[in-house]
Amino acid sequence: MHPFAYTRPATLSDVLALLDKHGGEACLLAGGTDLVVELRNRSRRPSIVIDIKQVKELAPTIGETERGLRIGATVVMADIEKDSRIRRHFPALVEAAATVGSIQIRNRATLTGNICHASPAADTAPALLVYGAEVNVASVRGTRRVTLDQFFVGPGKTVLKRGELVTSIDLPLADNRRAATFTRLTRRRGVDLATINLCCKVEAGGRTTFAYGAVGPRPFLATDDSGMLADPRASDAAKDEILRRLLTKATPISDVRGSREYRRAMLLVMSRRALRTAIDRLQDDRFPSPSTGGQDDRFPSPSGGGKGGGASSHALDVMDSTTLLDLLRDRLGLTGTKECCDLGECGACTILVEGRSVNSCLVLAAEANGQSITTIEGLASDGRLNRLQDAFLEKGAVQCGFCIPGQVMAAEYLLRQNPHPSAADVKEGLCGNLCRCGAYEQIIEAVLAASQTSRESLSPSGGGQGGGR
Ligand SMILES: Cc1cc2nc3c(=O)[nH]c(=O)nc-3n(C[C@H](O)[C@H](O)[C@H](O)COP(=O)(O)OP(=O)(O)OC[C@H]3O[C@@H](n4cnc5c(N)ncnc54)[C@H](O)[C@@H]3O)c2cc1C
Ligand code: FES
Ligand code: FES
Repeated sequence: MHPFAYTRPATLSDVLALLDKHGGEACLLAGGTDLVVELRNRSRRPSIVIDIKQVKELAPTIGETERGLRIGATVVMADIEKDSRIRRHFPALVEAAATVGSIQIRNRATLTGNICHASPAADTAPALLVYGAEVNVASVRGTRRVTLDQFFVGPGKTVLKRGELVTSIDLPLADNRRAATFTRLTRRRGVDLATINLCCKVEAGGRTTFAYGAVGPRPFLATDDSGMLADPRASDAAKDEILRRLLTKATPISDVRGSREYRRAMLLVMSRRALRTAIDRLQDDRFPSPSTGGQDDRFPSPSGGGKGGGASSHALDVMDSTTLLDLLRDRLGLTGTKECCDLGECGACTILVEGRSVNSCLVLAAEANGQSITTIEGLASDGRLNRLQDAFLEKGAVQCGFCIPGQVMAAEYLLRQNPHPSAADVKEGLCGNLCRCGAYEQIIEAVLAASQTSRESLSPSGGGQGGGR
C-alpha cells in the first residue's frame, strides 16, 4: 500500500480544517470498503487519510427532522436495514441496502460512502433518487444542500468541491400515498456489482418515477406524469411504449457483466416487473413492510465485542497503512484468520470488531484502536471447540479447511443475530464467504445443526486457540 498518515479527528471543525489544509492530498475514510481497496491497488495515493468515524457531529445516527429523516454520514447499510422508520417509510432503500455486498461489507459500508464513491452501479442510488434524497455538505466556507440528482456528475465524480464533505443525507416524507420497489440484476448473490439496478415508485395519483443504475455514466431519474403506467385500464402495449420512451436516457455499455444489447432487453423486462410490484404494493394495505430476509427488528443489535477465549489487550505501534488482517497474522501470530483475495470478496479474513463481522483485509489496524476484536482463536474454550466448530466437523463441512475460519466467524455472527435461522438465512448470512472446495451444503447443514443448541454455548468464555496456518 502507498504510505500515508492516518488521523482520527474528534470534531467536524477539525476534519474541515484538515481538508482545507491538505486539499487534494487528503482522503476521507468512512467504512473503507471502497477506499481501502483503492489504497491497496494504488489508484488513490493520498498523503493523509482522515477517518471520520469518531467525529461526534458525524455519529452513526438516524434522526428526525421536520420534513423527514436525516441519515448521518457514518450510518452503515446494516443499520439502514434495521431501522424501523426507514423500513416503514422508505422500504425500497432497505431492499437496496440489503443487496450491497455481503453481511461483512454491510457492517462497514456507509450509505454516504456509497453515494460519494459515485459508482454508476451504486445500489442505494436509485432508491435515494426516487425518494427525493438531499445531500448536506459542509466545508470551512459554510454549508450547502444539493439534491441527489444534482450530486452525481459521472463515474467517480460528484459536485463535491475540494475541502467539502457530506455530513448527512435527508429523506423527505411523502405528502401522499406511494409504494416503491428496488430490484437488480447480478451474476451472483453477494459481492458482485449490479449489471442493472432500478427503483420504481408509484404515487396514489398515478405519477410513476423510475431511477436506473449501471446503464449510464451516472444513475438517473425518469418520470411518467401521465398516470398511464399505473392505470389498470391501459394496455400492456401502451405501457411498453412509455417505458421505452423513459429508457431512451439509458446508455448501457458492454462489459464483463453483460452486453449492451442484453442490458437494453433486461431494462424493459425489469421495468415491467418493478412497475407491477410497486402497483401491487400500492394496493396492498399491509405494505410498506419489506422483507429483508433473515435480519429484522426482532433481532438484538450486535452486543459489543464477543468475549471469546483468551481475551487480552495489545498495545502496538503500527504503520498507518497496515491492515488489521496483517496485524493479526504477522504481528500477533493469529494465523487462523486467512488471507486470500485482499479485496473483501472471499470472506476468508472474517473477524468480529465490536461484535460485528467484518473483512479484516478492508480495515486499517489503526481504525481498530480501542475496539474489541474476536478472531477464530477466541471461539474455543479450555482446549474445546465451540458448538459451531464441532458441528462443522460432525457434518463434514471441513475439506481443505482454508475458508473454514472465515465461514465459522460469519456463522457465529449470524447465530448471534438470529439464533434460529432458516437455510435461506444461512445462505444469505454466508454469501460473502467463498469455499473453493464447494462444501456449501455441508456448511449450511453445520450451521443449522449448531443453531439447535443454546445461544450461550456458542460463545464460551475462557482461553483457547483455534485455527492456525
Ligand atoms: C466486496 C465488495 C462488494 C461490494 N458490493 C457492493 C454492492 O453490491 N453494491 C454497491 O452499491 N456497492 C458495493 N460495494 C461498494 C461499497 O461497499 C460501497 O460503495 C460503500 O457503501 C462505500 O462506503 P464506505 O463507508 O465503505 O466508504 P469509503 O470506502 O470509506 O469511502 C468511499 C469514498 O467516499 C468518500 N467519502 C466517504 N465518506 C464521505 C463523506 N462523508 N463526505 C465526502 N466523501 C466521503 C471517501 O473519501 C471515498 O472516496 C462493494 C464493495 C466491496 C469491497
Ligand atoms: S475478504 Fe479479506 S482476504 Fe478475501
Ligand atoms: S473447505 Fe476448502 S476452501 Fe472451503
